[in-house]
Amino acid sequence: MAQTTEIQSTEDRLTESALNRLANDSDPRFKQVITALIKHVHAFAREVELTEEEWFEGVKFLTAAGQKCDDKRQEFILLSDVLGLSMLVDAINHKRPAGATENTVLGPFFVHGAKEIKNGDNLAEDWDGEPTLVSGRVLGTDGKPLANALLDIWHSDDVGYYDVQLPTFEEKQLRGKLRTDAQGRYWFRTIKPEFYPVPTDGPVGIILTRMGRHPYRPAHIHFIVSADGYESCVTHLFVKGGKYLDSDAVFGVKDSLIVDFKLNNSEADAEKAGLKAPFYNADFDFVLRPADGGKVQKVISPADAV
Ligand code: BEZ
Ligand code: FE
Repeated sequence: MAQTTEIQSTEDRLTESALNRLANDSDPRFKQVITALIKHVHAFAREVELTEEEWFEGVKFLTAAGQKCDDKRQEFILLSDVLGLSMLVDAINHKRPAGATENTVLGPFFVHGAKEIKNGDNLAEDWDGEPTLVSGRVLGTDGKPLANALLDIWHSDDVGYYDVQLPTFEEKQLRGKLRTDAQGRYWFRTIKPEFYPVPTDGPVGIILTRMGRHPYRPAHIHFIVSADGYESCVTHLFVKGGKYLDSDAVFGVKDSLIVDFKLNNSEADAEKAGLKAPFYNADFDFVLRPADGGKVQKVISPADAV
């Protein structure tokens, strides 16, 4: 009788054979992750009875995704976003106590090194759009106001483009780094953001179309909020009542992050804010929890991946 050896790559023994090849002394965490990956990838191929054509379509898709990447565009992160993987990884890694501001997806348009701005400055000096004052405080979970906390802020323009997407991109715009005052307060002027599509001119766009899904994200402003001794928070403020809040293309919406951008018609309030009436005011307090053993959230931008 023929003996079944590890050399025989029979369909039912392949998973075991691939797992057996792992060196006993490989890094334990790497071994755990690659073992699960091999098991799940094999189970996936078995479950759908993957054809060779489909396997090759997958190879071509991943190749095209790689070719679309550069220092400003990360098609693999976008793929992870639209499949809900980014938000799942986020949820696994950022479980916070009630009252602490929730995390959400970073997205591909974060850029290190935005200009430093002061409270009251205008992020959108030369832009059309509806004038908006964003204000609030940064607090610890114990309610203590956090002076000198850092808010790294970025958002799209009034038609849904980030500066890095514009052909005219030269300097960073609609971005800024702002520090809270002694009472933990922050405020800045800008324009009210609008909903926009995630980039659809690459392979991820094709996947969305084939799934029958729209590519839109509801209007939002991005923040990374950090303070010494506290766990930093990567998050957004979403515009209450905006389109696509219930069907965000990247699953990033959390109820606690939806904020009323209230219309204010008062000329006096507008003058005080340095804006023209009417203007919108979004008021939100960010709440950070103390960092366990100095846990810092590493923030990745597309440029870090190439
Ligand atoms: C964003 O909000 O900037 C974004 C997030 C995920 C994918 C695409 C864009
Ligand atoms: Fe965004």
